[in-house]
Amino acid sequence: MNKGRDIGLIGLGVMGRNLALNIDSRGFSVSVWDQSPEAVTRSAASQPEGRITGCDSIQALVASLARPRKIWLMVNAGAPVDEVISQLLPLLDADDIVIDGGNSLFKDTERRAAHLATHGLRFVGAGVSGGEEGARKGPAIMPGGPASTWADLRPIFEAIAAQAEGQPCVVHIGPGGAGHYVKMVHNGIEYADMQLIGETYALMSAAGMDTDVMARTFAHWNTGDLRSYLIDITARILTQRDPDTGAPIVDVIQDRAGQKGTGQWTLVNAAESAVVVSAMGAAVDARVLSSMKAARMAASSQLAGPTGRIDAPADRWVDQLHDALYASKIVSYAQGFDLLRTTSERRGWELDLGAIASIWRGGCIIRAQFLNRITEAYASDNPPANLLLAPGFVQALARTQSAWREAIATAVRAGVAVPAMSAALAYYDAYRTARGPANLLQAQRDFFGAHTYERVDRPAGQAFHTAWPEVQG
Ligand code: 6PG
Repeated sequence: MNKGRDIGLIGLGVMGRNLALNIDSRGFSVSVWDQSPEAVTRSAASQPEGRITGCDSIQALVASLARPRKIWLMVNAGAPVDEVISQLLPLLDADDIVIDGGNSLFKDTERRAAHLATHGLRFVGAGVSGGEEGARKGPAIMPGGPASTWADLRPIFEAIAAQAEGQPCVVHIGPGGAGHYVKMVHNGIEYADMQLIGETYALMSAAGMDTDVMARTFAHWNTGDLRSYLIDITARILTQRDPDTGAPIVDVIQDRAGQKGTGQWTLVNAAESAVVVSAMGAAVDARVLSSMKAARMAASSQLAGPTGRIDAPADRWVDQLHDALYASKIVSYAQGFDLLRTTSERRGWELDLGAIASIWRGGCIIRAQFLNRITEAYASDNPPANLLLAPGFVQALARTQSAWREAIATAVRAGVAVPAMSAALAYYDAYRTARGPANLLQAQRDFFGAHTYERVDRPAGQAFHTAWPEVQG
C-alpha cells in the first residue's frame, strides 16, 4: 500500500508554489491544493517530472498524506487561515500537524493553536522569510508550536531551508506563537534596516552623488561590515535603468511606501511590553509620512527650512555615512533583540537568541554577516543584557560614533530627515546616561498628581512627596 505523501501544501500563490518546488527538489513527496483549480494545474505542471501531486479537493489532499499528516498553509494572513482550518478540521485525526507559514499575528496563532489542541491536533505557526527566491531555493524558517512537532518536521524543514556556513537556517523557536512572534520582530528589524539604508541614500543624493556612484559605494560596503542582502540589492537597484526613459529606475518610482502591518504589530507589542524599539518606530512612521504624498507636496512650498543640499568632501562623507549606517544598525538590532529577550522572559518561551541570530544569517531578508557577531555575543560565557554592551559592539560604537554624530548633525543642518538614524543615536546617548532628566519629570508628576518620587539618598522603593506651592490663577 502507498505510504502516503510526505506533506501537503495549501495555497499556491508565489510563496506556496515555490515552496512546493523546493520541497520536491529535496526529495520529499508533496501534494498541493488551492481553491483555484488553475493554480493546482500550474503548480503540478511546474515540476517537469510530475512529482508534485495536484489534488482536486482539500479532501483528496488530506487523503493523500502519510500520518501524522503534515499540512502547510501558505494562504494570506487573517480570515483565510481560519477558513482553511475550518475546512480541514473535520478531515484530520489526532496528532496531525497544521503549519501556518504566512505572516500571521502571533496572538492569532495562539488562538488557533488552542482551538486545534481541543481536537488533539498540533498547530505550528512558522515564520518564513526570503520572498519568492527564498521559498524556491531556501528560506529562513521560524517554526513555533508544540516541541513534539520538531521531530516530525525537522527533516523537511532542514532540507528546504537556506544554509549559512553549513547550518540550516531553521530551529524550533519555542512554544505557542513564538515562531510567528520572532518573524514579526524580524520584519520590524527589516523595516528599520530598509529605512536606515533609505536615509543613507537621501544623504548621498543631498550631497550630489549620482546613482552609479551610490551603487558602487553600496557594492563596496557589501564587502565589509555592512555585508548583507539588503545592501546588495540596494547596489543592484541603483544600477537599474528605466527602459522607457533611460533614467535610473529609482528616479521614476513614486516615493510612497506600502506596508502590510508586521512593522506596526512590532511597535504595538513593544509598547505593551515597555521595550524601546525607536529605530523601528521611526521606520514605520517614515512609511506613514511617505504615504502622505499630497500633504507633503503642499507643505513643501509652505514650511521654511534649509535647502536640503549637503556640501561635503565626497570621500569623507561616504565614510561618515558608512559609520552612521553601521552604528544605527547596531542600535536597531540591540532594540530588536531586547524585545525578543523581554518577551521570552515574560512568556517563559526560553528563546535561544544566539540561535535566532544564527538562522537569520541565511535565506531571510535581513540576512547579514553582522549576525555572526550577535550569535557570538550570545554564545559568550557572559551574554550581555543589551547587545550594545557586547564587547565587539562597544568597540564598534566607540569607533564609529564621531562620524555617526557628524553625519546626523550635517543632515539636521541641511534639513534632510534622518528619523531612524537620529532615533538610534538618541537611544544610544540616553542608554549611556547615568543620570538623565527624569528627576524633573518625577517632580512634575508629584506636583500635579502627588504621584511621589524616590530620592537619590534613600533606598529605592521609598516614596516621598513634597508639599508644592499652590499655583495661583
Ligand atoms: C520576508 C518579508 C516578507 C514580506 C513582508 C513585507 O521576510 O520575506 O518580510 O514577509 O516582504 O511582509 O512587508 P511589507 O509589505 O509590510 O513591507
